[in-house]
This record gives sequence, structure tokens and C-alpha cells, in this order.
Amino acid sequence: MTEHEVAKLIIGAAKGSPKNSGQAFAPVNIALCKYWGKRDEKLNLPVTSSLSVSLPELGATTKISFRDGHDLLRLNGADQPQDSAASRRVSKYLDLFRPDKDTFFQVDSESSIPIAAGLASSASGFAALALALDDLYQWKLGLHDLSILARLGSGSACRSVYTGFVIWHAGTRADGMDSFAEPVDGEWPGLCMGLIMVSHHEKAVPSRTAMKRTVETSALYRAWPAKVEADIKETRRAIEEKDFDLLGRTAESNALAMHATMLDSQPPVLYWMPETVETIKKIWHLREKGLAVYFTMDAGPNIKALFMQRDTADMQRHFPGMEIASI
Ligand code: PMV
Repeated sequence: MTEHEVAKLIIGAAKGSPKNSGQAFAPVNIALCKYWGKRDEKLNLPVTSSLSVSLPELGATTKISFRDGHDLLRLNGADQPQDSAASRRVSKYLDLFRPDKDTFFQVDSESSIPIAAGLASSASGFAALALALDDLYQWKLGLHDLSILARLGSGSACRSVYTGFVIWHAGTRADGMDSFAEPVDGEWPGLCMGLIMVSHHEKAVPSRTAMKRTVETSALYRAWPAKVEADIKETRRAIEEKDFDLLGRTAESNALAMHATMLDSQPPVLYWMPETVETIKKIWHLREKGLAVYFTMDAGPNIKALFMQRDTADMQRHFPGMEIASI
């Protein structure tokens, strides 16, 4: 099945007439058990399930309306050139939702993610766009279906249609209709994430490329699906029992294992910088000294620290300049 057919299947039954414009917000999400590797590149179907937590105060607010001539993408008030990678990616996604080839869109997206935070914006960006399209066309789809539409833009975007803890089920079907995200029950007041910036530079290897390379060349990757499955079980138990050490330990181990599969790829992918290693060692040292802090990392050199609100003052002292996001 193509992405066009999947989109048609989902919006096919929806009735409602389009408004002049649609608008929506979607939060950033950080995976505690990572999505790493696709079983279908076109539909963004993952090899494994993954589990994330959304950062409700950080994300994208996106407005979409119809316009003539060509699509226009405006990010934080700045028009993006039509031939830029971002514009092309958004236009390709919008192709799934054009009633005819002469319908074009203007997309204005404002991000509350601090530019320096080093958080991937594609997840909140595509989730906000899918939700804004639902508002524009008045499909009134459920979040289950909207998570599938968001996934067609960027895999991890399917988790950003929700706040709180979220699981993305890998599914087994070739059409991906069973590969959707849904909330995991359980609030955790006081859980914090600290964004520790190591580099502001754009990553040298896009995650799409690194994932593909890992799946194709890493022997270690064969152990990854069982590892993620076990980690998701432990993370769900940690959320249920509010066991912070279990949550942190599992998230840290999962992120390190993902990076191990990258290192095992040919050619190897290493996102770490010297400061990444320094920060990791500092976190381990602080933990030995009794501070309950763990970390996770994505496809880049920056560190996301996990800690409880009661330790905020200590964390700020050890990591001045760290941006703190509550969960
Ligand atoms: O959805 P993508 O293509 O941006 O991939 C996200 C991959 C990781 O951030 C490394 C892991 C994850 O689950 O978010």
C-alpha cells in the first residue's frame, strides 16, 4: 500500500466541509524506549514498538490555509525557500491531502522549543500539521487515526498527538493500520527533563539514514527488538509503581544500546562529542554520590537528563544553563 492509499483510507469516510484555515498545537516527545529502525520506509513502519513522554510546554503551533500558486512554509515568521529541504518535505506530505493538483497550502508554524534546545522539531511539527489539517478539513478524526496520519510525515510524530506517556505499537500489518500511538495510563507529578546542550550544529547523518544503515549492517541490531520489548515492559512497570530508579535505569540503558547498534554499523555512526562523554561521566559520578539522575539521548550529541523536581536546585548547580522541561 502507498502512503496515498493509507491517507485515503483514513480520511475517506470523513465528512465535513473545509474551513478557511485550521490550527493546532502538538508537543515535543522524547522516547524513553527508542524507535530505531523501519520495516517499511515509505509508511514509516517501525521494527519495534517505542514508548515516550511528551513535554507539554514545548512544541509547535501550526496554522494551515489554502493559497494559490504554490505551497508556502513559514517557520517562526520566516518564509522558507521553496527548494529548501523543509519546504520540500512538507509539500510532499501535503500531496497526500490535496483535493487536486492545483490546490496549495500556506503553513505557518511557530515553535516554542528554544532554538538552542537541540530537540528534533519534526515530531511536534508533523503532529501539529496532521491535527491542523483535521481542523481545516473538519474531518473530526480520532487521535488514533491522526497518529497514523502524523506517522506518514515522521515516524516519531505519531507519539506527539498526545501528552503524557505514550506507546507507539509497532504493528505487524503491511498497510500499517495497526501501527499507531496511544496514551499509557499514569501521571507522574515532579518528573523533570533537563536539556543539556552539547552542540547546536545540525547533525551530520540524518536519523533516517543512520537507522537504515543500522538495520542493514549491524549484527548487534539483531538483539535490539528483544531489548526494546523488555525495556518497554520495565518502563510500564516503573510508571505504574512510580519507581524512578527503574525508569531512569531502563531509559539510560535503552539509549546506550541504541547508540551501540549505530557504532556497530558500517560505516559507523557516532553522534557523540567529547562533551557528550564528559556529561555522561558527570551524571554517573553524581549518581554514585547519591543524586538520582539518569539520561537519555537521541540521534545527536545532546543529553536529556531525567530527575525529580526535588533535586532541581542541585541539578541547576551542576548543570548551569540547562533548560528544564516539566512532564
Ligand atoms: O521520527 P524520526 O525519523 O525523527 O526518528 C526518531 C528517532 C529517535 O529520536 C532517535 C528515537 C525516537 O524514538 O524518537
